[in-house]
Amino acid sequence: MSMEFADRVGRVEPSATLAISDLASKLEAEGKDVVDLSVGEPDFPTPENVIQAGKDAMDAGHTGYAPSNGVPELKEAIVEKLEADGIDCGPENLIVTPGAKQALYETVETLVDDGDEVVLLDPAWVSYEAMVKLAGGSLNRVDLSDYDFQLEPALDDLGDAVSDDTELLVVNSPSNPTGAVYTEEALEGVRDLAVEHDITVISDEIYDEITYGVDQTSLGSLEGMEDRTVTVNGFSKAYSMTGWRLGYLCAPEDLVSQAGKLHSHSVSSAVNFVQHAGIEALNNTDESVEEMRAAFEERRDMLVDLLAEHDVDVAVPDGAFYMMLPVDDDDQSWAEGALEDAHVATVPGSAFGAPGYVRISYAASEERLREAVDRLAENDYF
Ligand SMILES: Cc1ncc(COP(=O)(O)O)c(C=O)c1O
Repeated sequence: MSMEFADRVGRVEPSATLAISDLASKLEAEGKDVVDLSVGEPDFPTPENVIQAGKDAMDAGHTGYAPSNGVPELKEAIVEKLEADGIDCGPENLIVTPGAKQALYETVETLVDDGDEVVLLDPAWVSYEAMVKLAGGSLNRVDLSDYDFQLEPALDDLGDAVSDDTELLVVNSPSNPTGAVYTEEALEGVRDLAVEHDITVISDEIYDEITYGVDQTSLGSLEGMEDRTVTVNGFSKAYSMTGWRLGYLCAPEDLVSQAGKLHSHSVSSAVNFVQHAGIEALNNTDESVEEMRAAFEERRDMLVDLLAEHDVDVAVPDGAFYMMLPVDDDDQSWAEGALEDAHVATVPGSAFGAPGYVRISYAASEERLREAVDRLAENDYF
């Protein structure tokens, strides 16, 4: 029997990172010691008190279905967090989701029709493109590579790209894959364009707790953005909770009621006891979050210095735990070669719309980062 698949899945290509992870697994199976700098998750355990809160919630019987849009106590804690970021968000504006990815997916599915234009800032996280394609939207990409990945100097380019036909713009600061944190002036520029052309903006702020000496501005806190911003955030990165699958979106109520239909007919809700652990994460983890943030900052500094010793100049990231390494034009071959010869795994920049670069994640110990740089140098990859 030959099955016929829906057009929408045919529009999405397998991840460009697959070739690298397949090769890494093969090398590891052969007993090779691979330094994996391709991963997008913190290398710290979930804070102990959050784990305990999850266990306690199970013991207390929070094991049934949860209210579809989220457990009220968690929603209250999120409302307070967003208020501290200057975002006016009530419980009625929230959908709590199994991961920020689901929040983004529901938002794109709710807003984007066949042929609608969605603007991305390149380099951009891989799943935005896939989500837009699944929804049938058309992509319009603005390249920040020539501006050290900063948005402020690219505002004219963005102004040229958007029009009254633009349905949606996606902004992700701090950024995956570049680690760039956009300035308040840059975001005000985005606001002006969004208001002028009546564009809805997704502000993906999942790395907001991981910044180094700069302030992250929430787009939804800017005047004029209250009614046109979907703020997306999650627990994976700040609290090292990738496997728990917990995130949320805050949006105008009419969007919440439309997206809520998708949410209830697909996932029903985020996991009940996980949401209870999320309350603990938001309320009682300041110290653990700061410890992780400080460790990432030290590693960033160390990595920038080590690379400079090999005359490799990078755009120094102000947030998240990634940086873009300039390599050959053919970044896919560079990454495959680096993995085969030096046993160092990176992600080709082309996957993010940034050919000529690879993304390195410094969610790895200082010792492993040093090892990676040494091996790349020994094998003439710099
Ligand atoms: C920019 C960005 N947004 C959203 C996500 C989704 O995170 P999660 O679904 O684990 O909350 C990720 C994960 O890598 C990310 O890098």
